[in-house]
Parts: sequence; C-alpha cells; structure tokens
Amino acid sequence: MILQGEYTRSIMRTQDGKGARILDQRQLPWEVRWVELRDMEAAAIAIREMWTRGAPMVGATAAYGLAMALAEDPSDESLLAARDYLFHTRPTAVNLRWALDEVAKTVGPLPPAERAQAAFARADAICDEDVELCRAIGESGLQLLRDLHARHPDRPINILTHCNAGWLATVDYGTATAPIYLAHDEGIPVHVWVDETRPRNQGALLTAFELRNHGVPHTVIADNAGGLLMMQGKVDAVIVGTDRVTANGDVCNKIGTYLKALAAHDNDVPFYVALPYTTFDADTPSGDAIPIEERAGEELTQATGPAGDGTITTIRLTQSPAANPAFDVTPARLVTAYITEKGVLDRIGD
Ligand code: MRU
Repeated sequence: MILQGEYTRSIMRTQDGKGARILDQRQLPWEVRWVELRDMEAAAIAIREMWTRGAPMVGATAAYGLAMALAEDPSDESLLAARDYLFHTRPTAVNLRWALDEVAKTVGPLPPAERAQAAFARADAICDEDVELCRAIGESGLQLLRDLHARHPDRPINILTHCNAGWLATVDYGTATAPIYLAHDEGIPVHVWVDETRPRNQGALLTAFELRNHGVPHTVIADNAGGLLMMQGKVDAVIVGTDRVTANGDVCNKIGTYLKALAAHDNDVPFYVALPYTTFDADTPSGDAIPIEERAGEELTQATGPAGDGTITTIRLTQSPAANPAFDVTPARLVTAYITEKGVLDRIGD
C-alpha cells in the first residue's frame, strides 16, 4: 500500500483498541478520509453503503463489527444476533460469512467476559493473514508476468483488470493487483487497462487511484472497450479478483467480468482470477446458486463527483427506471487459471 500518511493498511484497529479505522472509499480519489467505526451498527453501515468494499475487506470489517458488538454485550444471544445482522449487510462475497464464522468459532467456547478481547484478536489475525495471503498471491502471479515479459521484452506488458481488487479491497497488496505491484517493483514494464466499472466506477476511481499512487502506468477505459483492445492485440492477459469461487470453479465478480472473459476466450487472451482461500466456497456447487446483489437503481441513473468549485455534486443521467445487478458469474470453462497463495492452479478445490 502506497499512500501518503501514517497508515499502512486499509483497515486497522483504532488507537484505543476498541474500534476499527477504515478509509472512506466514497470520497476517493478526491479526498483521503479515514473514519473510525465505533460500534457494530457503524461497521454494518460502512459495509452496506460501501464506505468500504471488496470481498476480503468486507470480511475484515465485519469481523471487527462482531468484536464491537461483543464488547457491548458478550452473551450467547448477542453473538448469534450480531453475526446474523452483519451477515445480511451484503449477500455475494463469501469472505463475509467466512470472517464472521471465524470470529464466532473462536469466541463461542469462551466465557462471555473473555469474548470481546478474543474477537478483536481474531479480527486482527484475519487482517494479518490477509496481508500474507495477498503477498503470496502476488508471488504466484509474478511468475506469469515474468513469462509475459520474456515473450515481449521490447514493450510493456498490458494487463486488463475490472473493478477494484487492490489494496483498498483487501488489507494490503490486493489480489488481482498484487502480481502487478510486485512486477512493477521488480522493474518489469507493466501497463494496466483499467475498466471504469460502471455503475460505481471502482476502476476509474479506486484502481486508478491505487496505480497512480504506486507509479504503475495505466489507462482508464470504458467498460465496453476491452473487447476491441483484445482483438487488436493490446491485452496480454486479464487479471480480475473475485467475490466467490464455487466448488466447480465458477467465478462471481463485479458485473461485466463475464463479458471480459468471453472476449478474452474469443481472442485467445489468458483470463486469470486471483483469490485467497477465504474466497473459495466449497459449500456452493456452482455459480447459479450464488446470491447476486441487486443494488439501488440510483447508482445507475445518477453520477456524483466534484463540481468546479470542489463541492460534491450529484447529477441525473436519465429519468427512466434502472436495474442494477452488482455481480455476474463467469463459468469455470472461461478461466485460464486461478492465481492463489498456493500457486497458479488450472483447477480449484482439489
Ligand atoms: O461491489 P464491490 O465493490 O464490493 O465489488 C468488489 C469486487 O467485485 C472485487 O473485484 C472483488 O471483491 C475482489 S476484491 C479482492
């Protein structure tokens, strides 16, 4: 994570140890604003309203949210109710369930008086582990980028990514971005095509912000441009993150990912999915069983950004109703390989 200021992780405990500090991603890239979450409700709002987002980051925020609930009331009833409440903040990323279950498993057998402290410690450990997982994903994917560089030593290698699967979406490094950051740091010339990722624009606002901070050359493109660029030979590989990979290898990720996978398949461009084991859902057999989040139509019909005088303004783009499914599913057959902390795998879940 490269960001001016004192903090080195996208989420961490507050100085008094009783809350969690996150970046308010709704303000990026215009303003770097850290906010402190001080109770479970604040954590739930931050997840639901996407102050924070991305599968591993949603899980980490929920883990701290559960710890905060237990600090107020450590009873069995509170544990069950808080886990259930946080579980329903967003439906698609499986890391949310994973992180809540990890905390619940840790504290369930303990006497109530010891639960809050143990829950905070488990949330801290989830964050520490996420950093290590993403770093290892970076190491796995780095070899792919070295190979691409060896094939095209005279020009930068071009990676296309969708949405934000960077350090804003994790605790550090990111998943899809980790190999890119490591390759760039090693001196491999990398250029990233950044899908703008309508309607929330995680690519244009967040991934571009990260890459700019890290000094990685990049270009924001309209979501519909990737197919043409692949056809023109301007994309060497697609690397995306994911919110859930099912037992058969289907990949759920930000809406529009599937179309990129189709275009990649048609143009013989390798399509890689980067994920830690915390995003693998062995209990769900295939992608059609994943709950796809439907978000408010206003995300599509309105645009928000700074006006000339710097104040944040919302404008209307259409007066018609809008449908806004937030994720889609890419069938396993379109995935070239999964970049994981254990290496680059042709198949997942073995
Ligand atoms: O709706 P979002 O912004 O939470 O969706 C995020 C994504 O789809 C990411 O690509 C995914 O969570 C991978 S994050 C490492």
